[in-house]
Amino acid sequence: MISHLSTIILTIAPYCWAAQPGSASPVPAKIRDLQWGKLNFLHTTDTHGWLGGHLQEPSYSADWGDYVSFVTHMRNKAEAEDRDLLVVDTGDRVEGNGLYDASDPKGQYLYDILKQQQIDVMSSGNHELYKQNTSEAEFLKTVPSFQDSYIASNIDIIDPQSGDLVPLGPRFKKFTTKKQGIKIVAFGFLFDFTGNYNNTKVQLVEDTVREAWFQEAIRDQDVDLFLVVGHVPVRSKEYEAVYKAIRNVHQEIPIQFFGGHLHIRDYARYDVKSSGLASGRFMETVGFLSIDDVKSSTPVYTRRYIDNNLFSFYHHTGLDETSFTTDHGKNTSHMIQEARHALDLDYVHGCAPKDLWVNRAPYPSADSVYSWLETEVFPGSLRDASRSNVSALAIVNTGAIRFDIFQGPFTQDTTFIVSPFTSGFRYIKDVPLSTAKRIAWLLNLQTKIMTQSTESRVYCPLAPPEQCAYDLGMTVGNGRSARLESRNWGGQIVLSSDEDTSPKVLPGYTTVDDAGHDGDDTVHSPILFYQVPNVIQALIEPSTSNLEEDTTAGSSTVDLVYVDFIEPYISLAAKFAGLHVDLPRDSDVYMSGTSMTELILGWIKENWQCDETTF
Ligand SMILES: *[C@@H]1O[C@H](CO)[C@@H](O)[C@H](O)[C@H]1NC(C)=O
Ligand SMILES: *[C@@H]1O[C@H](CO)[C@@H](O)[C@H](O)[C@H]1NC(C)=O
Ligand SMILES: *[C@@H]1O[C@H](CO)[C@@H](O)[C@H](O)[C@H]1NC(C)=O
Ligand SMILES: *[C@@H]1O[C@H](CO)[C@@H](O)[C@H](O)[C@H]1NC(C)=O
Repeated sequence: MISHLSTIILTIAPYCWAAQPGSASPVPAKIRDLQWGKLNFLHTTDTHGWLGGHLQEPSYSADWGDYVSFVTHMRNKAEAEDRDLLVVDTGDRVEGNGLYDASDPKGQYLYDILKQQQIDVMSSGNHELYKQNTSEAEFLKTVPSFQDSYIASNIDIIDPQSGDLVPLGPRFKKFTTKKQGIKIVAFGFLFDFTGNYNNTKVQLVEDTVREAWFQEAIRDQDVDLFLVVGHVPVRSKEYEAVYKAIRNVHQEIPIQFFGGHLHIRDYARYDVKSSGLASGRFMETVGFLSIDDVKSSTPVYTRRYIDNNLFSFYHHTGLDETSFTTDHGKNTSHMIQEARHALDLDYVHGCAPKDLWVNRAPYPSADSVYSWLETEVFPGSLRDASRSNVSALAIVNTGAIRFDIFQGPFTQDTTFIVSPFTSGFRYIKDVPLSTAKRIAWLLNLQTKIMTQSTESRVYCPLAPPEQCAYDLGMTVGNGRSARLESRNWGGQIVLSSDEDTSPKVLPGYTTVDDAGHDGDDTVHSPILFYQVPNVIQALIEPSTSNLEEDTTAGSSTVDLVYVDFIEPYISLAAKFAGLHVDLPRDSDVYMSGTSMTELILGWIKENWQCDETTF
């Protein structure tokens, strides 16, 4: 593998980068080359609105405009050598970044930026379907933008104009590649998701593959490759069902899967002619996959996880800062810049005195974002005025926090990056404290409750997706949990001095997958991954002025306060804990009109003033 390793050193000239102004310049690093096949793919997934790239992390600082330039050059390069390149995206394009969440209506700028990329095959994620507005925007904007590239094998939507239930997009498509004439039948799936709003219908993958149209599509005899894209983990019962259904009919035809949802880099080999690639999250990763040759009896598969920065893009295209950016790419970067400006995403609300981590620090600890919420934010600001003389136990799911907080300016953008959801709080009164604590404890035993409750399995809905991958990995062996050490966190480290331009090994992804240890394009040092629970809890004391009146009854019962998103799980855990409540009837709104995002922001504005030391 060493032979694939080459080293490039570029002069750093930040004013030339096309990435967003103010973003961290990429750092020279050792790069593993791509190995092209006759058929090649580039893959993004779970971008969650991060089309501006990571402004604070050099490893992931390229934006969607740079990706537009990259795809143009990669296509040209491929086609000049008589190869094909297909571009794939597997959903969760929305929710999780100010560029999407900060506008009203949400996504006002995102959809036009997204459509600048020429995507060949794409699918919906679960985040496109939580709210009526979001799925309707998908139906009315994204699907028309990408036309027959958008495939919805198992999703229907109520057409807001006609009121009829219709497919969100075509169920499948058949096409022939431009250079090699490879005949492809492609599907687009979403995992067995049940949390969608009732204007959409998600059919179980296992049921979909039994439908007549699917069975007919896979009986096509004039096919060189089945392409299955989806917002589905590459190691999942859903993809297993698709794989088995196709292999039942065709043992010899290659099947290539692209997946996502768990926010990890992963590559699974199913058989000699079949594999699945998952390409991370948040525009940190552009996945590359090649097959050489699809029509051979022993096709050669290679994969690379490209760090989303210009240093990597220049390397893989053989271009530099003077030749890389295309007009279209530059225009797209400009659209992002204008949108960021219109949304005032760089507005500074306060300054974080230090880094706070989702999974990079142990929980509980002083560096855990969850410990910070439990010990500082909730006790300091979670209190309904009308319940101020009553103790409360607050339960919040860890998945409500999506990203780390870096030391320094906490901006309008950071607000949505850390907590994009619009969930507010509800409460049940007069719950014995011991019962409330038991409910939190039960929620952290996720698997037992889940298997008895839901008709179909949902991927760990309470915890961050990365944590979910970790939990799943724990049940199947060491290789999987090792893979989870490959998380991101390129952040923070810059060249030590101006003269020192030798490649640095920065902390970052060190992925282990079914093809080995050499998948990441950039050589990184590993970062440890710490497990977090499904829910965290904070005991909120009554305001002191009323404390004396409350000496006898006070400590034994509490208001059980929770984020409204988790009400179905609270309901279930309450049943197990012997608390007889009918939700939402027996609950009420807590801190009416305040979302968790606003609560956190309010605390930051009051407690994290900026001064020279925090900038
Ligand atoms: C849906 O979008 C409209 C504006 O387009 C907005 O007024 C409304 O509040 C949104 N609804 C929800 C539930 O977000
Ligand atoms: C969807 O749920 C809403 C309540 O949120 C209800 O008013 C509506 O009737 C439901 N629609 C369908 C088609 O079930
Ligand atoms: C870029 O934007 C300019 C000005 O808006 C426009 O004239 C030009 O056609 C655009 N070019 C591309 C390739 O999108
Ligand atoms: C708490 O305050 C409410 C009104 O805000 C009052 O009705 C109630 O009696 C108080 N309870 C105690 C235990 O002081």
